[in-house]
Amino acid sequence: MTNDTLRIDGLHVGYRGARVLHDISIAIPPGTVTALLGPNGAGKTTLLRAAAGLLRPTAGSLRLAGADVTRWSAARRARHGLCLIPEGRGVFGALTVRENLRMMLPARAPRSRIDEVLDVFPDLRSRTGQAAGSMSGGQQQMLALARAWLTGPKIVLLDEVSMGLAPLVVDEIFVALDALRSTGVSLLLVEQYVDRALAMADTVHLLDRGRITFGGPAAEIDRDGLLASYLGAPTH
Ligand SMILES: Nc1ncnc2c1ncn2[C@@H]1O[C@H](COP(=O)(O)OP(=O)(O)O)[C@@H](O)[C@H]1O
Ligand SMILES: [Mg+2]
Repeated sequence: MTNDTLRIDGLHVGYRGARVLHDISIAIPPGTVTALLGPNGAGKTTLLRAAAGLLRPTAGSLRLAGADVTRWSAARRARHGLCLIPEGRGVFGALTVRENLRMMLPARAPRSRIDEVLDVFPDLRSRTGQAAGSMSGGQQQMLALARAWLTGPKIVLLDEVSMGLAPLVVDEIFVALDALRSTGVSLLLVEQYVDRALAMADTVHLLDRGRITFGGPAAEIDRDGLLASYLGAPTH
């Protein structure tokens, strides 16, 4: 369908000749959540980085809301509505919460947009003057989500946002993700908590050694087979 928010077709990606992703095709319709699951080293981060324009594919194409963005820079894709929340949060620790948010405010957006976003993240509102790096891991991840929210994205790609966080904090993150989804934003979610990802996702893609081994509705996945492939990773 041409109205997919993100459409990846026949994508091949590698690092200095070592091929990591083979013939990846994924279509993400507007307002849907796609979980990208698979064991360590499968290529999940590589796929998100390629989708965001940080890595050049050796073959294949990417479309973002109808536009062929295969040759677009990461910055241009971001302006067109693609937001990556990278592994390790991607906030500037030495800057305050408010400075982090200002940096992500699109050029033509009014300052009041920051206040609107702080309404969604009340815990951040009381910390706007605090250095981001002095907050807890969960608060920093909320800031990363708030920055994504601020850009008014069409799709947010999330790389293991719950990594290293306490279960209660992970709950809060998923509430925020649910709220983001309810505004019509599409999500592509890489997540080690498989059960939480499956509960939220409309569609699941399994990645194993650089290839998609399953793609379909979350309800149809062979959960036990999936968990076996993770060899003991936390799942809930
Ligand atoms: N910068 C890099 N240079 C070379 N190889 C890399 C680089 N980043 C990742 N790889 C390799 O690509 C493969 C996929 O890694 P990655 O995308 O990080 O997997 P995942 O996120 O699923 O754990 C691994 O074999 C990894 O060693
Ligand atoms: Mg990774």
